[in-house]
Amino acid sequence: MRKQIVAGNWKMNKTFSEGIDLINQIIEKSSSVKDVQLIVAPPSILTNEAAKYLENKNIGLAGQNCANHSQGAYTGEVSAAMLKSAGANYVILGHSERRAFYHETDEKIREKIKLCLENNLRPIVCCGEVLKERENNEHFEIVAKQIKGMFEGISAEEFKNVIIAYEPVWAIGTGKTATPEQAQEIHQFIRETIKNSYGSEIANNLSILYGGSCKPSNAKELFTKPDVDGGLIGGASLNADDFIAIANSF
Ligand code: 13P
Repeated sequence: MRKQIVAGNWKMNKTFSEGIDLINQIIEKSSSVKDVQLIVAPPSILTNEAAKYLENKNIGLAGQNCANHSQGAYTGEVSAAMLKSAGANYVILGHSERRAFYHETDEKIREKIKLCLENNLRPIVCCGEVLKERENNEHFEIVAKQIKGMFEGISAEEFKNVIIAYEPVWAIGTGKTATPEQAQEIHQFIRETIKNSYGSEIANNLSILYGGSCKPSNAKELFTKPDVDGGLIGGASLNADDFIAIANSF
């Protein structure tokens, strides 16, 4: 059956020493976590050092983004191969902050997904609607369009390594969480959409994470929903106790 996953997206937070401190706190407290895959996604400058601490610890290590080119004259970018060589095994792709602030399109995200898969990195691919789209009841349509655009040309064999995160933009960093019913309804829709493209076995094995103001106080009710397989956590992942409490909410 599919894996339950709790991943921490640190975004642009923590200096080098603060980051290593947080990694060590998470390692120490993670012994209480059973049957849940923990993943941390620190800023890329920390990836290699974090990998040393995480060796043999059964905690995944993710990049927060990668370039849509394999190498070359792209100043400031970090490639999938670089992340892999630094010790990452996952990469968050298509986060709404990347879409909004850095103009990422579904097509660009698709290029990144390809590069991650070629480099043996599992992509955690984000989708989700903005507030206006939710108010206009367009969220199903928007998410379906994002999924179609991001996975076009990705084979079933490749897709087996994909994780999806549904992150309604209106819930990110706002303190406003989707209700468990809202999350379940759209997660089920995502699984159905994947089933139509890749078949039921792949759809049933796909982990779909919820992201958006997920915290210890609301994780339990979200995670009881059958199609919510865990969380992609922002703010609350910067505190080791909260992050671990979320992982222990299943
Ligand atoms: P918050 O948990 O801070 O709302 O962020 C969610 C998120 O964007 C994770 O990728």
